[in-house]
Amino acid sequence: MSETNSEKRRASSWDVLAGQATAAMRGAYAPYSRFLVGAALEAADGRVFVGCNVENASYPVGMCAERVALGHAVASGARRFARLVVASSGTKPASPCGMCRQALAEFGVGLEVLSVVEGGASDSWSLGELLPANFRLDAATGSTAPEADA
Ligand code: THU
Repeated sequence: MSETNSEKRRASSWDVLAGQATAAMRGAYAPYSRFLVGAALEAADGRVFVGCNVENASYPVGMCAERVALGHAVASGARRFARLVVASSGTKPASPCGMCRQALAEFGVGLEVLSVVEGGASDSWSLGELLPANFRLDAATGSTAPEADA
């Protein structure tokens, strides 16, 4: 069966996004763990924001690649996201840590997440699968949903 044009576009665009995440990974500052991570977060309007992990001598100060990318995106006005690729230097695809899952879930759990490592292995999930019961202040308090829920 032949692929439709939109399937072809989509497949190649995942590759492009994975390439952007891998390029970002090469900028990682990870002298303590030596585990390099890059993230490419695609907004609903097609813009792509990248991040890498930024470690610190005071270990808990370090930032994950996913939240660095999310910070770039939010600072640029993006609030709706379609896809995220995480590239890491390990031998098996890494899934986003719990803190990053919660940070991303603020903006919706429909996000499609792909994790890749060099050599071709990959894994994928929706954010809703990764964090099925994310904390939501409006749900916990009955308050009006904030801007990010719109
Ligand atoms: N790391 C990320 O950047 N993203 C994740 O989802 C998991 C872990 C980073 C944090 C730290 O710099 C290094 O990987 C090892 O934990």
